[in-house]
Amino acid sequence: MHDTTALNQAMDHFDGHDNVWLFGYGSIIFKADFPYLARRPAHILDWQRRFWQGSHDHRGTPAAPGRVVTLVEAPGARCAGMAYLITPEEFAHLDHREKNGYLRVVTPIHFAEGGVADGLTYVAAPDNAAWLGPASEADIAAHIARAAGPSGPNRAYLLELAAALRALGEDDAHIFAIEQHLIRLSS
Ligand code: SIN
Repeated sequence: MHDTTALNQAMDHFDGHDNVWLFGYGSIIFKADFPYLARRPAHILDWQRRFWQGSHDHRGTPAAPGRVVTLVEAPGARCAGMAYLITPEEFAHLDHREKNGYLRVVTPIHFAEGGVADGLTYVAAPDNAAWLGPASEADIAAHIARAAGPSGPNRAYLLELAAALRALGEDDAHIFAIEQHLIRLSS
């Protein structure tokens, strides 16, 4: 499996900072398995959340990848999620967790309660080895319905993400359409 850990560990944008804001838009919203100093609903601009990334290590296997979310550049778009204030030591764990194609990207993070700060988010770009790319929302749901990996069933990733966005009061047409297709498939 191609592994982005070393590329991420060479990143020095926030060197010397005592803490860094991390923006989560996928499993990082609903599975914060790292300590944090603060947690705030937030959004970023000009990026769209899409189930276009393959997962060889969490929700699928190299032979039968799952589908997970990444961010795709989309001028004018808004992507809601959760921001966490963390200490730089947490990046060792996060780089390992996100190693299947994700690279740290610097972005302004807009907090729901107001204010903005520069921070990091993990993006899997189209040139990474696990990239799957676009498919219809019905096909994505069918793919998710049959995939599973070491972190559990792919369907749990989708359903937990949709529930977390709903709890944040956020509407994400792409995620909720795939959720509806998945529910129809399993009924
Ligand atoms: C994220 O949650 O911010 C990155 C994608 C993922 O791990 O699901």
